[in-house]
Amino acid sequence: MRFTITDAVTWVGKRDWELRRFHGEEYSTHHGSTYNSYLVQDERTALVETVWAPFAGEFIEHLKTVVDLERIDYVIANHAESDHSGGLPQLMRHIPDVPVYCTANGVKSLKGHYHQDWNFQVVKTGQRLSLGSRELIFIEAPMLHWPDTMFCYLTGDDILFSNDAFGHHLASEGMYNDLVDPCSLMEECIKYYANILTPFSALVKRKIEEFAGLGLPLKLICPSHGTIWRDNPMQIVTKYLEWAGDYQEQQATIVYDTMWNGTRRMAEAIAEGLNQADPSLTVKLFNAAKGDKNDIVTEVFRSKAVLVGSPTINRGYLSSLGGFLEMVRGLGFKKKKAAAFGAYGWSGESVKLLTAQLKECGFEVPSDGIRALWNPDGDALEQCRTFGREFGQGLAG
Ligand code: FEO
Repeated sequence: MRFTITDAVTWVGKRDWELRRFHGEEYSTHHGSTYNSYLVQDERTALVETVWAPFAGEFIEHLKTVVDLERIDYVIANHAESDHSGGLPQLMRHIPDVPVYCTANGVKSLKGHYHQDWNFQVVKTGQRLSLGSRELIFIEAPMLHWPDTMFCYLTGDDILFSNDAFGHHLASEGMYNDLVDPCSLMEECIKYYANILTPFSALVKRKIEEFAGLGLPLKLICPSHGTIWRDNPMQIVTKYLEWAGDYQEQQATIVYDTMWNGTRRMAEAIAEGLNQADPSLTVKLFNAAKGDKNDIVTEVFRSKAVLVGSPTINRGYLSSLGGFLEMVRGLGFKKKKAAAFGAYGWSGESVKLLTAQLKECGFEVPSDGIRALWNPDGDALEQCRTFGREFGQGLAG
């Protein structure tokens, strides 16, 4: 439950190997997660973050084996979301007068969650808290990804406690980035960014530049989820800058749902056309009703284009696409092209409605899409190939 990071810093968090859903049911966590809490012991002792509420009892039980709770001088609440603050109510019952350092918005969020009047100490960027030979420097990071979010930096050990930023939902016994499979690690990082941080990309870039401007040396980045960046911590900062810049790879993603396989066959024919237009283009297909929505969003994040297909049902489109497009609308992807397609039997509204929704999502939609009456025959599938080819040619450059 604990390990020593430096002479002064001990990880006292919780690995959650079982976690499969996060943010309610909204985010899939195929590989669990961790709630990282850090104890900093100098002449004075600070606890940075706690854990999610279901683990509060275990957390405190173990924390007591590391430190006498009475010796904790400061609690640092970088972020009030309950996966980090959930241990506070139990902890504060043991140490009710200990000051809780957070932003002004942190006070609002923590009071809103727990309805407690703890000894809040509001901090602003640049404010320092002496622990003896080391200091904590606070850095507000509003909307990364809540209004209350802040980071803090430990002098002497050169550690950035970055809260959710640079984090990833990955439970592992080895708690450093060089001790886990690098592909799994980066996959979880990009998924986290795509699904949570995309709307705040401009702020991500600005915050990284602001931190760089402080000229503080950086040995470790200790996020509040997943592994600690020990091996080349700047690699994840570089990735964040790349992802924050309207990221796209040489990829197109086709997301569809289907009732009797007509729209699926259209999707596959469009994929063939895209590939004919540009064999270097990676084309991926997902049935929105069967795939993992967060994994599909990650693929959309990677893509320069997305094609969305549904047959018409009840003068609309299938509900799996409704949920998916609402997620995509909220994330606000930029500089991506899109188009709609779908099979129909009589009224045939799905493509028109999907096209309107894709525009609402902020995509550039260069065509009115393509429909196929009833089950697409050879000619209709050839038209889909042509549609894919022409759409693919429009992606060149
Ligand atoms: Fe990991 Fe925004 O909480």
